[in-house]
Amino acid sequence: MLHGGKLVAFPTETVYGLGANALDASAVARIFAAKGRPAYNPLIVHLADASQIHEVAASWPEPASRLAERFWPGPLTLVLPRRDIVPDIVTATGPTVAVRVPAHPVAQALLRAAAVPLAAPSANRSTELSPTRAEHVLRGLDGRIDLLLDGGPTAGGIESTVLDVTTMPPRLLRPGLLGVAELEPVIGPLVRAPSTQAETADVLASPGMMPRHYAPRTPLECIEAGREMERLGLLLAESRRVGWLAFGDPASMIPSGVIPRVLPSDPAGYAAQLYAVLHELDDARLDRILVTLPPDRVEWLAVRDRLHRAASI
Ligand code: TXA
Ligand code: MG
Repeated sequence: MLHGGKLVAFPTETVYGLGANALDASAVARIFAAKGRPAYNPLIVHLADASQIHEVAASWPEPASRLAERFWPGPLTLVLPRRDIVPDIVTATGPTVAVRVPAHPVAQALLRAAAVPLAAPSANRSTELSPTRAEHVLRGLDGRIDLLLDGGPTAGGIESTVLDVTTMPPRLLRPGLLGVAELEPVIGPLVRAPSTQAETADVLASPGMMPRHYAPRTPLECIEAGREMERLGLLLAESRRVGWLAFGDPASMIPSGVIPRVLPSDPAGYAAQLYAVLHELDDARLDRILVTLPPDRVEWLAVRDRLHRAASI
């Protein structure tokens, strides 16, 4: 199917991806159409093995090979100078290409069977929540894709970390499943991408960092820990149907009328379940999802990034 220009959704260790032959511009155009994705947002090219990097990248800086050696296959995407063989539609006409080698056995088997690089964004409609289960993919894309490989729930739960290695020091474009604390011992201090508020001017350098992204349909509001009870009380007084996403061991009593979900207090455990819980709350026909923010510490960087982007209030 991939050789025929069709779209195949498949599991990775982060989220489900929507794949097409990366070297076939019209197949890749169908990804953009299926997702409703703007043409200025480039795609990640997935390879079975780091040895294929020279097929799509024009150079392979030393820090990139050190990172690949250590973290591939895995949830790390490297932005590299592109080769001309990569169609413009994949890179949004930019000079770079984003590349990753996924670890999931189904993704690996698919890449090896197809024997071509696969362009694959997350398998959701543009700006909506990423899918971590096959049913999430169908919720957004049923009728718009040709095949879905159901590998069960994905283990990681949030997207890969995107790192620009065309500059030194490398620049963190999207915090993700692979933490800064794991990367910095290997390549030294990273440059962080600008914050959500400051980044609008930088939208082309890092298109996926658009402030509203990864969002449920239900209005979502983030709140610092300790202030939830007051906020829940106000929302209930306005007769709103409220879901509350807490974490760890919420000390307070859960007010009646609130639909609670509690996630683990470790970042990996939290990330693994985050999108599944948001999909579930989004289906509960609520007026509001209130989310208690985890601490403002580096190990929570990716989770807090996704929560701020999911927020509409
Ligand atoms: O975990 C993941 O990365 C998943 C799985 C399927 O691999 N894929 C994924 O793709 O999250 P997508 O398209 O939803 O997000 C790709 C991100 C976007 O933020 C995009 O702007 C950025 O990578 N990106 C892609 N190519 C780029 C490039 N050449 N330069 C800078 N950023 C790039
Ligand atoms: Mg996405």
